[in-house]
Amino acid sequence: MTLDEFLARAAELERDGLARIADAHDAAALDDARITLLGRKQGALTALMSALPTLPPEARRDAGAASNRVKGALEQALDARLAALRAAAAPSWRPLDPTMPARATWRGALHPVTLVIDEIAAIFRELGFTIALGPEAETEWYNFGALNFPPDHPAMELHDTLYLGDDTLLRTHTSPVQVRALQAIAPPVRILAPGTVYRRDFFDATHAPAFAQVEGMAVDEGISFADLKATLSEFARRFYGRTRRVRFGPSYFPFVEPGAQMDVEVDLGDGKGLRWVEILGCGLMHPRVLEAAGLDSERYTGWAFGMGPARIAMSRHGINDIRLLYDSDVRVLAQFAP
Ligand code: PHE
Repeated sequence: MTLDEFLARAAELERDGLARIADAHDAAALDDARITLLGRKQGALTALMSALPTLPPEARRDAGAASNRVKGALEQALDARLAALRAAAAPSWRPLDPTMPARATWRGALHPVTLVIDEIAAIFRELGFTIALGPEAETEWYNFGALNFPPDHPAMELHDTLYLGDDTLLRTHTSPVQVRALQAIAPPVRILAPGTVYRRDFFDATHAPAFAQVEGMAVDEGISFADLKATLSEFARRFYGRTRRVRFGPSYFPFVEPGAQMDVEVDLGDGKGLRWVEILGCGLMHPRVLEAAGLDSERYTGWAFGMGPARIAMSRHGINDIRLLYDSDVRVLAQFAP
């Protein structure tokens, strides 16, 4: 064999070998290629090199160098192809590691005022009350007139009430739902009406221009102040705890007669121990309210109450500024998440 013939066969081996390696589509095919090309006994390169002794002595050095270069090129191509096949077979997902610490996720929670409303509703549901809702945009009649406010009552003035038009306003309390419920349902009626109310107040530590109220009302034949006291005392014991004391004192609202307030002994968490906190306004429904709703006030009597769940949430958590609740800063609210 001449040197030229040897070099031509070496070049052919490299060309065919690289093509075969590129064609290998799995690890087994690549193994076959490696053995056929570079195998020590039967490999094509071994076969080529076995011709070296037949070359003239002065050609052997160049022929040997050419064989080594082909060997190096094939080995490199085999390694690169193997790496490519492995990378293609590797899963794109990482296998599950059950020992990894869980990621902390914040799934959200109910607002502390919503939680109070839900607890109040659950207690009154057990006492036989149904949820009733009314509109936040009300007429003057439902918000004031039907509730026995005299036409010149100061609450109706522009500095207290947010008017939407001549006759429409944002309700200043949930009491209009009393009248709407009595127009819709025949007695006996026991409803609980949670909702948002609006007042023309500056947003300060003790006032919010929009805040929650929960209204309650029971109307039937023969309802008395004793029913009011018993029901609201039972509510306070369930909400605050069996041993908590409650007291009733006189108060005034145009739509009740007599009007009262209920105080509960509450620990505000300020180190001063139990103290009386006003929780709600209440009273026997004024006969004019029952008549305005179309009921015979000689036959039916009722009682009603209204409370502010934000104030209850504040007394529960020792919060002294209502803005902390209604600013809706999640960093604050998350602290009260159950
Ligand atoms: N509506 C009254 C208020 O906003 C509360 C109340 C409701 C008082 C029902 C008595 C009876 O303050």
